[in-house]
Amino acid sequence: MISEARIDEITNALFDGLKFPSEPTGLYDPLRYMIRIGGKRIRPRLCLTAYSLYRDYISDDVLEPVAALEVFHTFTLIHDDIMDCSPLRRGMPTVWKKWDNDTAILSGDVMLIDAYMRIGRAPRFAAAQVMDLFSRTAAQVCEGQQYDMEFEKVPEVPMAEYERMIGLKTAVLLACSAEMGAILGNAPEEDCELLYKYGYELGMAFQVADDYLDAFGDSKVFGKPIGGDIVENKKSWLLLKALEKTDDRRGLLDLMDLPVDTPERRDFKIAKVKAVYEALGVNDDARAEVVRFSARATDAVRNLHIGALKKEMLCRFADKLVGRAK
Ligand code: IPE
Ligand code: IPE
Ligand code: MG
Ligand code: MG
Ligand code: MG
Repeated sequence: MISEARIDEITNALFDGLKFPSEPTGLYDPLRYMIRIGGKRIRPRLCLTAYSLYRDYISDDVLEPVAALEVFHTFTLIHDDIMDCSPLRRGMPTVWKKWDNDTAILSGDVMLIDAYMRIGRAPRFAAAQVMDLFSRTAAQVCEGQQYDMEFEKVPEVPMAEYERMIGLKTAVLLACSAEMGAILGNAPEEDCELLYKYGYELGMAFQVADDYLDAFGDSKVFGKPIGGDIVENKKSWLLLKALEKTDDRRGLLDLMDLPVDTPERRDFKIAKVKAVYEALGVNDDARAEVVRFSARATDAVRNLHIGALKKEMLCRFADKLVGRAK
């Protein structure tokens, strides 16, 4: 069995030997910048964790599709930051902010292409399945991002619609990562499906935690400005739960309509909305919801055709994610 420490080591070193063309610098510098400042690398970690349930050795051709997951994810972040007007990512200025929108669009595009090239280098026996899973997932992420933007323009969205949206924009990529690891490890089909489910539920937990941290996290640890979802009128889990619980829906909807054209007004809106969240206790509800989704993830682990120690490793992975502060 490949140890968690070894998986961490490989994940951290995933891009150490990475070569991207040097020119045009305007195209490749932003890409290098984002990869270098790094993130949590949850998706490659999850993929390798699933793979290690079935194989004891990691070959280079396995690492190519593993890296593709992170490159693809980073591409979605670069474009997401334009769409969400976010100035900060991983504690650093976002690509559109540091360069400009056009640069962020094109650098993102070339990252998507890079991700596909790496997917194309998957081991032959798994190639078609990996390509199919990845392409389906990539399209779903775009669908989720579109719903996320459309939801900004309507005052309310049912919780079921929110869950569908975050399922698409976030959960399917974690699901894909876990299943891809299983496919690359030549796991039985039933396990591939169960690991997809495990990754999906983890992804749901992950996005609800992200919504929580967006309002109640520590910006220095989280690496993103606090209150961005409130400023952008995002239909976050917190907002939907608050609208469900409050007996003054009009009051909360009016707060969401407050102007945000100056830093002072932005801070005012964030403070007002957060005060409502705290008064209603939806911050605690969100944490409970993260635990609920995570428990659904570990439920899927039960029927896998693997030993107890390996099941425990998957449960530990889920626990770490529940406790995330960034
Ligand atoms: C951010 O993903 C986007 C969401 C799906 C919430 P991560 O929180 O995995 O971002 P990095 O890669 O660690 O920066
Ligand atoms: C991100 O959702 C989902 C994708 C990037 C596909 P968010 O917009 O909540 O992610 P952050 O908070 O900017 O990382
Ligand atoms: Mg977004
Ligand atoms: Mg965003
Ligand atoms: Mg967010």
